[in-house]
Amino acid sequence: MRLCKTINEIGALIKSLRIENKTVGLVPTMGYLHEGHLTLVREARQCCDVVVMSIFVNPTQFGPKEDFGSYPRDLQRDSELAEEAGVDIIFAPEVEEMYPRGFRTSVDVEEITDVLCGAARPGHFRGVATVVTKLFNIVQPDMAFFGQKDYQQVLVIKGLVRDLNINVKIIDVPIARELDGLALSSRNVYLSKSEREAAKVLSRSLAKAQEQVANGVRDIEKIRELVLSEIESEPLARIDYVEIRSIPDLKDLKVLEDRALLALAVKFGNTRLIDNKVLEV
Ligand code: PAJ
Repeated sequence: MRLCKTINEIGALIKSLRIENKTVGLVPTMGYLHEGHLTLVREARQCCDVVVMSIFVNPTQFGPKEDFGSYPRDLQRDSELAEEAGVDIIFAPEVEEMYPRGFRTSVDVEEITDVLCGAARPGHFRGVATVVTKLFNIVQPDMAFFGQKDYQQVLVIKGLVRDLNINVKIIDVPIARELDGLALSSRNVYLSKSEREAAKVLSRSLAKAQEQVANGVRDIEKIRELVLSEIESEPLARIDYVEIRSIPDLKDLKVLEDRALLALAVKFGNTRLIDNKVLEV
């Protein structure tokens, strides 16, 4: 496995792979790898000759009061896990390499970034869209792999690739969960023992919503109320949002007619967790 810290280094490697007609798959991450990231790698391994993983805690997608400074980082551990899972090249640039002095361009995907995490975290998706566009230009992958854990992020990236004619196929991969249902996240390490236990309420409430739908409930507000009351029954949980929206436009819905996205963000102590489920009618 190769570790590249600079854009020039990875550029030269990619150029030589192109000459050999190799297909390249990119797995963008912010590191502190867990099984969720590694499922993306395994999917990429199946589809492409060469798997590139980027590890970059992207400052522009964090708000001023968010956890950029304290976001967990461990490149040594990440390198070992990535190599075991089949990564060929890690691209781990410093902030100055990605955002040199004078950097002043950004990518803004409109409308679908005004809701859910976009509403809760102003500027977040501008940061994501900008860094992912840069990564696509630097690595020039044939395919790129993203987790459904960040469902809105996948929609944003599919939107920007279409709108800006970027020649990369976006593959989205199902959410990897702990045995008790908690979606894997680098931020789970922040949870205390009691918060970790309380966080099980998230996947439980999503499953209950799907049960209601299977029982014939179609009233969006009713399903939403059920999820809210389930989460509110957990004293350590503080709800940021619980919403049901259309796929792929994330529009408001009154009645469930087709598959729709149930997405939530909930804080346990200082840790904000997100989860979602595609409700199937
Ligand atoms: P990060 O949170 O490190 O996640 C990297 C990728 O792993 C994302 O596509 C995310 O959806 C996926 N992922 C995380 N947890 C997952 C889980 N439990 N199951 C399946 N996939 C999971 O998302 C980002 O980084 C950044 O916003 C990034 C796209 C790298 C841009 O900076």
